[in-house]
Amino acid sequence: MTASDPDPVDDIVATIARSAAEIRQGLVGRRGKADEENPSGETQAEADIWADELLADRLSSIDGVGQYASEERSEIIDAGDDQVYIAVDPLDGSSNLKSNNTMGTVFGIYDEPLPAPGSALVASGWILYGPITTMACARDGSVTKYELTGGGRTVVEEDVTLPDEPLVYGFGGRVPHWHDDFREYVREIESDPGHKLRYGGAMIGDVNQVLTYGGIFAYPALEDSPRGKLRLQFEGNPIAYLIESAGGRSSDGSQSILEVEPTDLHDRVPLHVGNTGFIDQLEAALA
Ligand code: F6P
Repeated sequence: MTASDPDPVDDIVATIARSAAEIRQGLVGRRGKADEENPSGETQAEADIWADELLADRLSSIDGVGQYASEERSEIIDAGDDQVYIAVDPLDGSSNLKSNNTMGTVFGIYDEPLPAPGSALVASGWILYGPITTMACARDGSVTKYELTGGGRTVVEEDVTLPDEPLVYGFGGRVPHWHDDFREYVREIESDPGHKLRYGGAMIGDVNQVLTYGGIFAYPALEDSPRGKLRLQFEGNPIAYLIESAGGRSSDGSQSILEVEPTDLHDRVPLHVGNTGFIDQLEAALA
């Protein structure tokens, strides 16, 4: 990108924010399973496919966008330009559709073609479909929180940082499949009466609790799944970039998620994000 090129990042973030109300509304009547699997082998919901198509159409037509990639499609859409490259999880936690619990939309905007390392991110964020719709967005090392109403966006907090005193923890994966050193670490976190369990089955809901109250969210490496469950391009990198921009840390167990070199668009990564002290302690436990 040269200084004279228009910056597409604002357009992309505004388009995602505007689309959120429509995505939320469009969930009604699309809560069933589609007869298809995503590239990671998970059964898709009708809403996953619909939200992906809506975002693909809108985001790939923005000037400056080189690629659109999503957790819900195996191939990258070539959008023709070469300034930024977008990776999206259109509906994070869509298994919560059935029970009508929290879900989100996650996005990462990279300045390198995909798959790219998290160090190539120029912005990232998430929409949270909770009792109200909110957005958290990281850019230039700073995080802003918004409330979204219809097509509008209101700033509720700028320069968001994780609270110093961590309160919440949430860990994914079946406990019998956790590695012993991770299980030991969890016991230490749980044994402090100042810490509370929060786990809702949608990463965005759980990570947003960490951003709000301080703490840790992890979907670790498992005995039957050494790379965990979450996808590096669509979930790991965007979340890590935002949490690090808010003064926290991310780790795959030994290094920042943003340092992990991708080998494939749909790579998974063991994900741990939260307050610096919690992640330091985690890396020491797993060393
Ligand atoms: O994208 C995968 C996802 O839905 C995350 O949002 C969530 O954290 C995780 O899967 C939940 O997995 P599990 O059902 O194993 O707890």
